Amino acid sequence: MSTFQAPKGTYDLIPPASATYLAVREALAAPLRRAGYGYVETPGFEHTELFARGVGESTDIVTKEMFTLTTKGGTELALRPEGTASVLRSALENSLHKLGNLPVKLWYSGSYYRYERPQKGRYRHFSQVGAEAIGAEDPALDAELIILAVDAYKSLGLRNFRLLLNSLGDKECRPAYRAALQDFLRALDLDDETRRRIEINPLRVLDDKRAEVQKQLTGAPLMRDHLCEACKAYHEQVRELLTAAGVAFEDDDKLVRGLDYYTRTTFEFVHDGLGSQSAVGGGGRYDGLSEMIGGPALPSVGWALGVDRTVLALEAEGVELELPAATQVYAVPLGEEARRTLFSLVTELRREGVAADFAFGGKGLKNAMKSANRSGARFALVAGERDLAGGVVQLKDLESGEQSPVALDAVVAELGRRLG
Ligand code: HAM
Repeated sequence: MSTFQAPKGTYDLIPPASATYLAVREALAAPLRRAGYGYVETPGFEHTELFARGVGESTDIVTKEMFTLTTKGGTELALRPEGTASVLRSALENSLHKLGNLPVKLWYSGSYYRYERPQKGRYRHFSQVGAEAIGAEDPALDAELIILAVDAYKSLGLRNFRLLLNSLGDKECRPAYRAALQDFLRALDLDDETRRRIEINPLRVLDDKRAEVQKQLTGAPLMRDHLCEACKAYHEQVRELLTAAGVAFEDDDKLVRGLDYYTRTTFEFVHDGLGSQSAVGGGGRYDGLSEMIGGPALPSVGWALGVDRTVLALEAEGVELELPAATQVYAVPLGEEARRTLFSLVTELRREGVAADFAFGGKGLKNAMKSANRSGARFALVAGERDLAGGVVQLKDLESGEQSPVALDAVVAELGRRLG
């Protein structure tokens, strides 16, 4: 072992498990590609102020969880804790919203960083696949994104996830609701920190997981009863479109989410096999965010799905993904001439699209065959001087153990046939 270990709250993705992560990322993104979302990649860090203004000064993410640094030139930067603010910043900076084709639909995949208390499913470095549809107010767009996430989970074979849905209202109806909620909360028996939260971000109190707080929240005013007509109609349309698409959801009046930019539609996907870190993905509409970071009015909606937690959810359900074999053919040369011949053959096989590997490092037959078996290959190609003198190599089926000579110039075609 080296003197060093990965930092607390992080872990390495290593083979063979890393193949599952790649497949999950790919599966989460595939429905987006089919729905007109283009790939965007933004830097791993941004100006701290972008997240402070975008995600919200009073959120846990901004107050406690950002990895920040000051450059030698005095610029304040933060490792990105989430993708929405960065993607919107990029769309505005590159004037994507001015190209005349709204909504601008973007997807992304990458690493995010939050200084959280690590536990299973909650890491300081984690991975998301996300999507943002920028510049359109249309319930069908909210429904589209939710349906795409559901389709992505289903394509992986995930079954035991639930969709929680809520509306947080807009700038017309939220202020009156906020005031009503504050009045209710101020009369409760709460600790000082929670009292402070009532003044800054009262909706977050609804999300408090502590039993002594939850107990007192019975009878709290709900956003549902304070939605203006426009928000009510909008939400009803989202619900109808989801129902028509066969997507089941649960109305959750207390779903607030941990980021301040949300308006109207908010949703979360939870998986019951994950314990306390049950949210596998989440998102919603953020109609005011563009203006909050200095842009024009651009109503938008998006989501991010956690790759790490999706992998844990698959494990919890016992779903094994069908992954392409890392190695299909393994070549075992015996002697110098065989090394040259089989090395060429391996190169040729790879060029034909066959996953092939080679016994490097001059291993003896026994060790090389062990490596062939460990590689998971279906076939081994074995050749010694006598085989080459006869113009053949031995093709061994590693499942049945059967072995037969195949003419050198027929090997590629024969393997192509056997591997289908
Ligand atoms: P979020 O709910 O903070 O939303 O994160 C989305 C998902 O990322 C979570 O549901 C979870 O699966 C995963 N995740 C978050 N934190 C961690 C962690 N510490 N360890 C492991 N997984 C984690 C957002 O980030 C918003 N930007 C989503 C969005 C996009 N809203 C609109 N557009």
